[in-house]
Amino acid sequence: MMIKARRLFKDTNDLPTLPAIVSKVVTMLDDQDASSDDITDLILSDQVLAAKVIRVVNSPLYRSSNSIESVKRALIYLGFKSVREMILTSYFVDGFKNKEQPFDMKIFWIHSFSVGAISRHIARQVNYPDMEKAYLVGILHDIGKVFLGHYCKDEYGQMLATISNTSRTTYEAEFECFGTTHCEIGLCLAQRWNFPSVYSDVISYHHSPEMATEDPLLTAIVALADFYCSSHVTSDSVAQASIPGPSEESAWHLFTQHAPDQSASGLEHFLSNLDEEYEAIGQEVDVLFNTMTT
Ligand SMILES: [Fe+2]
Ligand SMILES: [Fe+2]
Repeated sequence: MMIKARRLFKDTNDLPTLPAIVSKVVTMLDDQDASSDDITDLILSDQVLAAKVIRVVNSPLYRSSNSIESVKRALIYLGFKSVREMILTSYFVDGFKNKEQPFDMKIFWIHSFSVGAISRHIARQVNYPDMEKAYLVGILHDIGKVFLGHYCKDEYGQMLATISNTSRTTYEAEFECFGTTHCEIGLCLAQRWNFPSVYSDVISYHHSPEMATEDPLLTAIVALADFYCSSHVTSDSVAQASIPGPSEESAWHLFTQHAPDQSASGLEHFLSNLDEEYEAIGQEVDVLFNTMTT
């Protein structure tokens, strides 16, 4: 399977790139020994990146009461992890901004941002040590769809038309149509962009969490958040509603292995408990969409 994904990927010569500075900043933000001055200097060495950080920190997304004019203050205000999350999200959105798709990109982003926010909520519930990571990888989980949608636009559009109003998932249909899936294509992209291996693993296995090796709990969290959000969208979305299948059952199994106190409630009850949070994040997701796409 992976051979087809790599071949499709190799034949594409205008892949969205992630500037080298972004990988450097993201790596440095993960480095315990890096000081705030080191990170500030690195961000300031790229004016586009510095301007982006200032613009986003002053957007309604972060609700700062005073305007923040310096990168250093932005770092203090947001915290290192949030800056990492914000930089990656905004470059990711930019990379695909003007690439035509056979599906509605607004619905795609709303799904992605919702999965990020619900993943972060679940992570908090089970004391997962890095909530921002859960948020970011939740946002990135379906990147492979944007690649397939753009570079195989007509076939992907036809494929989506054949499965609309059916119970078939995009994952199954992609495999039949392309011999690969958005998970494998997403893995190729994540590797190309030098994402940490945990991110690649979640992107690769969010529809088959039992295969995850790097961080099975995180993969299970994103798989559950993805399923929940997919079953709460309208039918014209690229995400689809369905009843829990083997992939969700195995995500739940993995999840309760790591968070045994959750197992008593059962999967359906656990999912219905997310309703309140889903309603609460609606506005945040809208603001995020508007901030990142304008
Ligand atoms: Fe997916
Ligand atoms: Fe998804």
